[in-house]
Amino acid sequence: MNMESIIEQLRTNRTASREELVFLLENCGDTEREALRKAAQETALAHFGNKIYIRGLIEISSVCKNDCFYCGLRRSNGNAVRYRLTKEQILSSCEKGYALGFRTFVLQGGEDGCYTDEAVCDIVRSIKERFPDCAVTLSLGERGEESFRRLRGAGADRYLLRHETADEAHYARLHPANMSGAERQRQLFALKRLGFQTGAGFMVGSPYQTTENLADDLLFLKRLEPQMCGIGPFIPHKDTDFRDMPQGSLTMTLTLLAIIRLMHPRILLPATTALGTIHPKGREMGILYGANVVMPNLSPKEHRKDYALYDNKICTGDEAAECIRCLSARMRSIGYQIVTDRGDYRE
Ligand code: 5AD
Ligand code: FES
Repeated sequence: MNMESIIEQLRTNRTASREELVFLLENCGDTEREALRKAAQETALAHFGNKIYIRGLIEISSVCKNDCFYCGLRRSNGNAVRYRLTKEQILSSCEKGYALGFRTFVLQGGEDGCYTDEAVCDIVRSIKERFPDCAVTLSLGERGEESFRRLRGAGADRYLLRHETADEAHYARLHPANMSGAERQRQLFALKRLGFQTGAGFMVGSPYQTTENLADDLLFLKRLEPQMCGIGPFIPHKDTDFRDMPQGSLTMTLTLLAIIRLMHPRILLPATTALGTIHPKGREMGILYGANVVMPNLSPKEHRKDYALYDNKICTGDEAAECIRCLSARMRSIGYQIVTDRGDYRE
């Protein structure tokens, strides 16, 4: 197997075999990584120019009924501070965001039974009524097909649900026995069928992850063909059993961003907060490796620190306006520009 030909094949055929992906991920040196980076950046520039889409992230609830082993908001973490935003707080975050140029609002939260279909549909309808030129993205976990249908009916445009890992055995080492990777994948296909612009994704360097797992994650994305993909390094949280596990690697995350860009030229690919957390220039590097989206925090300042999925999360002390200013400057510093646009997926 030859690295150059694998990279060329990713660029032209947008795919590779499992063996080739494993080989590439295990043998990627600085030279190959730079070749991947360049090709990925060129691909992103060809489709999006130097424009970066922004999404206003509103963290609506830190309550979760799940107990994912890696997550600081897991049910069994008695130290987590739990809060819920009211409809009024959510709408006022949107109001602020709209004035700052956001045209997508992402409502993200734990699997919190308080947000019934009725409650979420009401919130979605109100946002769409007040801000008809904005997209609403939901990221509220596994709710099942019936619930997804109602949310779609209320006007939700997009849904983020990371698959976390495509390997069932690996999934079982990251989640309690009542959760399954197969169910997660079924729900992702349901979201696509219902017409949501759908986002999958995974953590890089999650505990027990192998290179084969990562290759399978890439091949799963090929099968699902999501419109969005969120990846970031695993970062340990002090109140979880994974507290002493090593964090995911910066270079592996960047390499995967570039490969995903080549395999899915038009995919909406964020440079995530987790990437910005493990390196001060993480998000800038993410963009240079093919990412085209950033997701500044729009949550009310008083709750920011309590949406703690992992330790040392950045931007927890900043107002939305400061974040957007900071990110604009960061993007300008590498020759990119934040735009006021819904940033929909285009075929
Ligand atoms: N480190 C990095 N990412 C995490 N997530 C949850 N916990 C962590 C962690 N400790 C990610 C998961 C989830 C998304 C909302 O955040 O992939 O889907
Ligand atoms: Fe939030 Fe820099 S992006 S402070």
